[in-house]
Amino acid sequence: MSTHYSRRRFLTHSSVGLLAFAGLPRVLQAMEGMHGMPKLSPNKASPNFKPDVEFELFCKPDWVSILQGKKTWVQKYSARLLQGPKDTLTDIAGSYLGPIIRLKKGQKVRIHLHNELIQPTVTHWHGLHVPAEMDGHPQYTIEPNETLVYEFEVLNRAGMNIYHPHPHELTARQVYHGLAGTIIVNDDEEAALELPSGEYEIPIVIQDRRFDGDNQLVYAGHMRDRMMGYYGDRVLVNGKLDFQLDVASRAYRLRVLNGSTARIYKLAWDDGTPITVIGVDGGLLEKPEVKPYVMLAPGERLDVWADFSGRSEGSQLTMRSAAFSGALPKMGMMHHGGSLAMGSDYPIFTVKVTRIVSDSPKLPTQLSKINWYNVSDTANPNKPIPIAISEDHMAMLLNGRLYQFNDFHDFERIKVNTIQLMEIFHAHGGGHGAASQEGGEHRGGMGMGMMHRGGMGMMGGGMGGSMMAMAHPIHLHGQQFQIVSRSVSAGTEADYATVSEGFINSGLKDTVLVMPNETVRIIKPFQDFKGLFMYHCHNLEHEDMGMMRDFSVE
Ligand code: C2O
Ligand code: CU
Ligand code: CU
Repeated sequence: MSTHYSRRRFLTHSSVGLLAFAGLPRVLQAMEGMHGMPKLSPNKASPNFKPDVEFELFCKPDWVSILQGKKTWVQKYSARLLQGPKDTLTDIAGSYLGPIIRLKKGQKVRIHLHNELIQPTVTHWHGLHVPAEMDGHPQYTIEPNETLVYEFEVLNRAGMNIYHPHPHELTARQVYHGLAGTIIVNDDEEAALELPSGEYEIPIVIQDRRFDGDNQLVYAGHMRDRMMGYYGDRVLVNGKLDFQLDVASRAYRLRVLNGSTARIYKLAWDDGTPITVIGVDGGLLEKPEVKPYVMLAPGERLDVWADFSGRSEGSQLTMRSAAFSGALPKMGMMHHGGSLAMGSDYPIFTVKVTRIVSDSPKLPTQLSKINWYNVSDTANPNKPIPIAISEDHMAMLLNGRLYQFNDFHDFERIKVNTIQLMEIFHAHGGGHGAASQEGGEHRGGMGMGMMHRGGMGMMGGGMGGSMMAMAHPIHLHGQQFQIVSRSVSAGTEADYATVSEGFINSGLKDTVLVMPNETVRIIKPFQDFKGLFMYHCHNLEHEDMGMMRDFSVE
């Protein structure tokens, strides 16, 4: 106990010193990164591409009513269909969120992105498997009044994906001010299930925001806010405060997205009803999973079967974020004890039964078929590609470096049409837990010495792990991956026990929450397309600080 106390005190007092010494070079590095991004001329429509669906997508400032009284300035996506099925675009009335984009597997899609902001932007199709040049990599960022044309075929299976900005170092700010939307892909396998649809299929986009006395969004760029992630003090669903869903007494399909920049939710129904999960980021599970609660980190999606049959007219049910611990550094907690501290218990939205109906669809026992890979199918069964997380007071890094364009470790060059085993782990403290597993030679080189060239060695093994250790939602562009294993090393078991039952490992993912001390092994295919595919923390403040890298698929 006393050791713990003095350690914390030591860090508090020394952080100013660390900032002065160690911080400066990294801040400069980050600015180089921004200038290091090439400027390309925006892609134009290709005459040989015959789209089934074509629409214009606009990013522009707008004013929307969120609070009583004065409207709030936002940045918003809007869209206009040029050709294709009428149900391709659905506006969410009165919301700053962009329209729901519905696509079908196999469709050829052309999108004209018009930047009507006063700053650069680019849009990324989070979760879609598209060519590298169509993926919204920050190198394709366009200036105000420019148009960027995307053309791709929908290769994904059914699932809910996201579109959001990805300009280097501006992503969090643009998402926070409203630029985000969902892309729902449908396919025949899913259609055969006849899951609840139309008015019975509801998007639930969960975000947190902070408003000033003038009803305007507040986004602070203080170093500490960026290190911990920025947290609002109000929860919005589909852009609305105190969201209430009026339902009939039957089964619904809730398509849930955590669209927050940093906040992690532990979703649970307030009356103890378990959550029935039918899908995650990469689409349907093979079979439903019934969970007491589900963790949902920024960028993650959840497909929920919510059956309100048998409930009486007027009855209510609330989706809450239940209490959990360990996601933020203990130091961070002290500064994020506001009215909506992450990990505290608070409501997210309420469901009210307003209509009694007599029949309801039944939950299918078999949902889909997933083509799983074995470790022996990977190109590197004994040598996982490392994704090393390192944390200190001034920077959150992946594989020891801040983002820089055209900067690759050898193991970040991947042969196209291969399947790779990867291991995501915390690099600090070297030698503990999973680091002692057979990890292959890559991992050895990722120790503290390499991570911190600049005299931060004191934060390493000597302290048995970083005091800045926190949870990171790690996202990989391109194809969805499968989770092979999760393991936690000693020291944080009590915290881990507050979240561990809430992970869904039985579906395809593109974002995985990695808790402090946790090691996650994944298998990811790199098929069809060469080029740059990013991997980064989907805590968007971390992403913007450079907790992001590229894989070069060659
Ligand atoms: Cu949702 Cu590279 O991001
Ligand atoms: Cu993505
Ligand atoms: Cu992070």
